[in-house]
Amino acid sequence: MKMSSSVPAAAVAVMVLLSAVSTTTVTGQALVPGVMIFGDSVVDAGNNNRLATLVRADFPPYGRDFPATHAPTGRFCNGKLATDYTVESLGLSSYPPAYLSEEAQSNKSLLHGANFASGAAGYLDATAALYGAISLSRQAEYFREYQSRVAASAGERRARKLTSGSIYVVSAGTSDYVQNYYVNPMLSAAYTPDQFADALMPPFTSFVECVADHRTIVSLPIKMNAQGLYSLGARRIGVMSLPPMGCLPASVALFGGGNAGCVERLNNDSLTFNRKLGAAADAVKRRHSDLKLVVFDVYQPLLDLGAPGTCTNATGYVFWDGFHPTDAANKVLADAQLLQGLQLIA
Ligand SMILES: *[C@@H]1O[C@H](CO)[C@@H](O)[C@H](O)[C@H]1NC(C)=O
Ligand SMILES: *[C@@H]1O[C@H](CO)[C@@H](O)[C@H](O)[C@H]1NC(C)=O
Ligand SMILES: *[C@@H]1O[C@H](CO)[C@@H](O)[C@H](O)[C@H]1NC(C)=O
Repeated sequence: MKMSSSVPAAAVAVMVLLSAVSTTTVTGQALVPGVMIFGDSVVDAGNNNRLATLVRADFPPYGRDFPATHAPTGRFCNGKLATDYTVESLGLSSYPPAYLSEEAQSNKSLLHGANFASGAAGYLDATAALYGAISLSRQAEYFREYQSRVAASAGERRARKLTSGSIYVVSAGTSDYVQNYYVNPMLSAAYTPDQFADALMPPFTSFVECVADHRTIVSLPIKMNAQGLYSLGARRIGVMSLPPMGCLPASVALFGGGNAGCVERLNNDSLTFNRKLGAAADAVKRRHSDLKLVVFDVYQPLLDLGAPGTCTNATGYVFWDGFHPTDAANKVLADAQLLQGLQLIA
């Protein structure tokens, strides 16, 4: 078959990747040694079950469509998260365990990554503190502990390869707005959305990279991470952008003024944040030629999925609860992220 010269390079890359993916499923060889997951409820797979927090998903109907068990796991979804689909596509045979879970007590379970995410965590540690969630700073500390456990049980060499070869997924920011800025009158009076987005950039940069001297333009108390992912050895990082926050059913109910449509003002805040996030990520990349860093666009795929709505039959709808996509929407997101994340695997 003669390939038309108009086939874009990206399409060729996708075909190559997809054939690699199908090969891995046949041979049992994964494309990466592991996946490390950080952030909020979009990716939490059960850490909040172990915390004294009200932000949890360990009761029905959560997990209703989760494979095999059809039981709640702590995932904020009827079924699988986008990261679950991603882990499958990468050829890994099990999901990275929630770091606080029973399963993660066994050192063997940690050899293909772990999940440190916690519902209601944000780029601001203060956001997590409001809900008793695990802050990003604490997640980074758990990751260091994880690294020493892997090194102690499987050897330094294996631990180093796992650290540098794994894909790191970071999902944060939504809680800083929806569970902090929008509902905290002092914060929203003191900062315009634009200033608030600016204030989230130093903790973002600090979490993925770790440098000491980033400044903030506003006087929010921002705790910088002592250690960022890059300085801890991560070299393949994918960061999720903000979703269209104005389309989250909770936002429509709270801020929609009785209209069923998405709240444009909040969607604009997402776009503002995402623009600044892209620039901050570019700046990090420029400082480290050995770092692969991709910002996954969550905004457009979710917007394209159409009008929001919650429903008892979650399969055909975009959102499962006030804040979180359905299993079906997560599959669409994961497919989009696989394409955007090709350069992380290459
Ligand atoms: C896991 O490894 C650490 C470090 O070697 C060790 O202290 C701990 O006892 C191990 N845990 C289990 C359950 O084997
Ligand atoms: C959202 O942004 C668009 C484009 O910049 C602008 O035209 C519109 O007025 C904004 N809407 C709100 C509610 O701020
Ligand atoms: C739920 O929706 C899916 C897709 O629209 C459909 O195939 C399925 O039959 C529905 N299930 C129920 C119980 O209505």
